[in-house]
Amino acid sequence: MNLKENALKVLEARYLARNEKGELIETPEEMFWRVARAIALAEKNYDEKADVEQIAKEFYTLMTELDFLPNTPTLVNAGRPLGQLSACFVLPVGDSMEEIFDAVKFSALIHKSGGGTGFSFSRLRSKGSRVRSTGGVASGPVSFMKVFNAATEAVKQGGVRRGANMGVLRCDHPDILEFITAKEDNKDITNFNISVALTEKFMKALEEDGEYELIEPSTGEIVKKLKAREVFDKIAQNAWRNGEPGIIFIDRINEGNMVPDLGQIESTNPCGEQPLLPYESCNLGSVNLANMVKGQEIDWEHLEKTVKLAVRFLDNVIDVNHYPLKEIENMTKKTRKIGLGVMGFADMLIKLNVPYDSEEALQIADKVMEFINDKSKEASAELAKIRGTFSAWEKSLWAKRGLKLRNATTTTIAPTGSISIIAGVSSGIEPIFALAFKRHILDRKDIVEVHEIFEQHAKDNGYYSEKLMEEVAKTGRVSGVTGVPKEAQRLFVTALDISPEWHVRMQAVFQKHTDNAVSKTINMPNSATVKDVKESYLLAYKLGCKGLTVYRDGSREEQVLNAGLTE
Ligand code: CDP
Repeated sequence: MNLKENALKVLEARYLARNEKGELIETPEEMFWRVARAIALAEKNYDEKADVEQIAKEFYTLMTELDFLPNTPTLVNAGRPLGQLSACFVLPVGDSMEEIFDAVKFSALIHKSGGGTGFSFSRLRSKGSRVRSTGGVASGPVSFMKVFNAATEAVKQGGVRRGANMGVLRCDHPDILEFITAKEDNKDITNFNISVALTEKFMKALEEDGEYELIEPSTGEIVKKLKAREVFDKIAQNAWRNGEPGIIFIDRINEGNMVPDLGQIESTNPCGEQPLLPYESCNLGSVNLANMVKGQEIDWEHLEKTVKLAVRFLDNVIDVNHYPLKEIENMTKKTRKIGLGVMGFADMLIKLNVPYDSEEALQIADKVMEFINDKSKEASAELAKIRGTFSAWEKSLWAKRGLKLRNATTTTIAPTGSISIIAGVSSGIEPIFALAFKRHILDRKDIVEVHEIFEQHAKDNGYYSEKLMEEVAKTGRVSGVTGVPKEAQRLFVTALDISPEWHVRMQAVFQKHTDNAVSKTINMPNSATVKDVKESYLLAYKLGCKGLTVYRDGSREEQVLNAGLTE
């Protein structure tokens, strides 16, 4: 296999099986065989005579060519005793002690198995409201989030990574102002990303510079009115300070709910790309677009084959998965959601000689994602013919459109934080973050990286020198660096050279062809203003995004990625 050094390091640290003494007992190739065979076993459910070994071989090649990789829990757990294969879960949090602490317990079980959990705390009665049984007063959503946070702290995900959570609160919950500032101090609720769920009513009030109502969830009473603009400003200010909270457009997300009969969507998974119904889980996987270029053209034939086999793989995962709870198994099998996305998009653009922040790049994104979405639907329809539709299909919006599918959703753009390192390509749909940088890895020494395609480009075009590379490594960027030709400065544009507006536009193009949501960080320079944040939010709303996360460079003490080696 053609694995880069960093890929090997990550695989050894977190993925490859070890014995009781902690010694490695498999090679990367053996890991991919383990996964391929475990996932291929599902074929037997539909055809007793299925050639499982043959399909396992196809899955093995799909992964070892690095054309497609499933999400981390599948790579770690398939064919092993834990057997939990999904990255994304959403759990309900009801307004009673039993329900709250059930959710704490369920989330611990999910974290232990390597999954991440999302919750809406919007059903909890507000802080200071009455508790009938005791005559006391309620503590409110933010205080309970701290309980979830402490539980997460104690449970490492399968010993592999720390648990990740998403906490959502509707903008019309009486505790919304406390929620917006809940992560003001970076030391609090560290195992959560938080997002404010903005409603259409809110967005309308904002446009008209009017007020909107806060509603006590336990009684349905209107308890107060707030100026939408003031709340919006407060969200933007906090996001400007340290990237939290994010926002999601909850009504828009529910417009995309293909099975409204099963309930309303209230939350997403931890990184925001996967809205789910309470008790639903979803497994993700990503096509490596850097591998889909032949010469200077997109290899559509190869892309189609890859997408179709990947859909089959992800559908199989649902059958062989070991679910942490019966409720989750039932709900997941009703909708059979899968989330196929992409990684290596920025690398693909470079191979095509197209800068990320250009109209041409938007057109490529549009064509590529439309193609992937269409082919994934074709694949899901082909599976439905043999395996049947997902069981909630008859009451789904797909039935209304007359499209028989095996999966209620097929596409999601994941961050691919770890699997893109394994594939050795740019993550998700993000631009290159830096042409040289150090990466923090949990419990391990920092990894230092210089971008390979850039180095090759410099050699091929005669501007390579060690001194110049050292210069680039200082900031991670080539913009304005003498010695780097102008065309190369343009082509190797990095996240912080790209204006927030271009980041949002790229997210919106991918969202257009994605059933679920799109993971994307809107990077801003340290000098960006609160006004810039608000403008990004409004643009995202206008362009049809389902949510937005901004991050201003240097606004958190510890960043996962640092541009440049010297910082
Ligand atoms: O690359 P990998 O498959 O490891 O994951 P990702 O694409 O970066 O993240 C996909 C999803 O995995 C996230 O949205 C979370 O639901 C989950 N995740 C998690 O539970 N814990 C983490 N530390 C990272 C991701």
